[in-house]
Amino acid sequence: MANMKILFLVGSLRRESLNGAAAASAAEMLPGGVEPTWFGRLDQLPHFDPDVEETNLPEAAQRLRGMVEEAAGVVICCPEYAHGASGVMKMTLEWLVGGTEMAAKPTMLVNVSTSNGGGLRAQRWLEETLTVMGVDVRPERVSVAAAARKVSGGRLVDEAALADLRGALDGFLTYVGSLGVGKDAVDLLY
Ligand SMILES: Cc1cc2nc3c(=O)[nH]c(=O)nc-3n(C[C@H](O)[C@H](O)[C@H](O)COP(=O)(O)O)c2cc1C
Repeated sequence: MANMKILFLVGSLRRESLNGAAAASAAEMLPGGVEPTWFGRLDQLPHFDPDVEETNLPEAAQRLRGMVEEAAGVVICCPEYAHGASGVMKMTLEWLVGGTEMAAKPTMLVNVSTSNGGGLRAQRWLEETLTVMGVDVRPERVSVAAAARKVSGGRLVDEAALADLRGALDGFLTYVGSLGVGKDAVDLLY
């Protein structure tokens, strides 16, 4: 029986990214039989260029689309820059707009910010963009505000934030598992 895959996309290139730490914590919460997959640093993707997309889709964009296709769900962990999502995340989505892989893909949003706003503006920005792409943006979401001291050693350590993340992830995985990806997927969760 194949594992159900959950793809993690981290919208920060920072070595000590708080969003990367939240992604690592979420991946460790996945139950047995649910496998985290990682695209890695989003700057592996070149600048989006529709001419290049049409004539010669770059290897990294092909790999990204393949990983989205294979995943039962996607978790996007993204910083808020100037009230929007990070540039690398925007460009990642641009490489996906022209494909079919993200259509109806269950996707959960996690935004971690050092500010009191908790990255909620980036979350709304992502929701709007993903919705126009036809993505199944799930209501299970996480926003962690004032996060500078809520991360240590590359993991979320704040109990309330961890509880939020666990609760959202549980709901998300229950939904993903119920989608009829196959009885196997549901069996994994119950
Ligand atoms: C260029 C820049 C713009 C930022 N703009 C915002 C913002 O609009 N709202 C916010 O909550 N935090 C903002 N921040 C702070 C980020 O939330 C903070 O740097 C966070 O740690 C970034 O996520 P990361 O740790 O995953 O890289 C900004 C940071 C940078 C570097």
